[in-house]
Amino acid sequence: MEVFGYGPAMSEDTNQATGAISPPPAPPPGGSSNVNFGRQSVSPEEKTQLVRGVFDSVAGRYDLMNDLMSAGVHRAWKAELVRRLKARPSDQIIDVGGGTGDIAFRMMNAGAGDVRICDINLEMLETGRGRSLDKGMTEGPDWICGNAEALPFPDSSADVYVTAFCLRNVTHLDAALEEARRVLRPGGRFFCLEFSHIAVPALAALYDRYSFNVLPWLGQVVAQDRDSYLYLAESIRRFPDQESFSAMIRQAGLHAPKFQNLSAGIAAIHWARRI
Ligand SMILES: C[S@@+](CC[C@H](N)C(=O)[O-])C[C@H]1O[C@@H](n2cnc3c(N)ncnc32)[C@H](O)[C@@H]1O
Repeated sequence: MEVFGYGPAMSEDTNQATGAISPPPAPPPGGSSNVNFGRQSVSPEEKTQLVRGVFDSVAGRYDLMNDLMSAGVHRAWKAELVRRLKARPSDQIIDVGGGTGDIAFRMMNAGAGDVRICDINLEMLETGRGRSLDKGMTEGPDWICGNAEALPFPDSSADVYVTAFCLRNVTHLDAALEEARRVLRPGGRFFCLEFSHIAVPALAALYDRYSFNVLPWLGQVVAQDRDSYLYLAESIRRFPDQESFSAMIRQAGLHAPKFQNLSAGIAAIHWARRI
């Protein structure tokens, strides 16, 4: 298991002897107009910092909260993602926003050999690295601190780009999708599991009530952090719906985007290919 810092000159920040993860990356250059952070309108730099703060705050309770918030259903969604992805031992896989490693561990259990987790948040990476040590994984994934909008990987270097529940948090979604295309080899495959939009109106009203009342309450009771879970609910609402997100994937230069709804569209898996 290796731990790398951020940036194209990764070796400068690498500290494999101590196992330390280097400081988080500076925000990539981008437009200066305001963006949404939940219901607030903030500068792009502020959003990157605020999102980092959310996941710093939830890192220790993140896995437990996932189970509580979804009554364990996120496990079935992740299992479906890994089943659809069909990782081969020879695939070079980048798990963007891989956090505490849940998707990476599942892919490795299913036969993946070379998995690099890239996440902007040191606390999430440290929590995940601790989990892999607890599991006794000697050949675990690499843990890399980096931003989805400026990935610290060369062009055409990955066979699979996978991301779960990350992209709704990035400041510039179009930039993150362009990065996905850039790092994939021709023939490489893109997969995204993300919360999405419910197709059944009656369910949507119930789900809204759950998201904006129960979620923040659970966040307060279990993680003593109501605001971060309110942000999560708001970020879910603001993420593009299935058709709009497919159009963005196509716009970024990825080919033949398709999607599969999960639990009536509460979440969806999108996939596409670089040609
Ligand atoms: C909800 S968690 C998902 C973690 C993991 N993929 C899973 O499914 O359990 C979202 C993750 O995305 C990361 N993240 C948010 N914005 C990011 C960005 N711009 N670049 C890279 N990672 C980011 C967060 O730090 C967090 O670890």
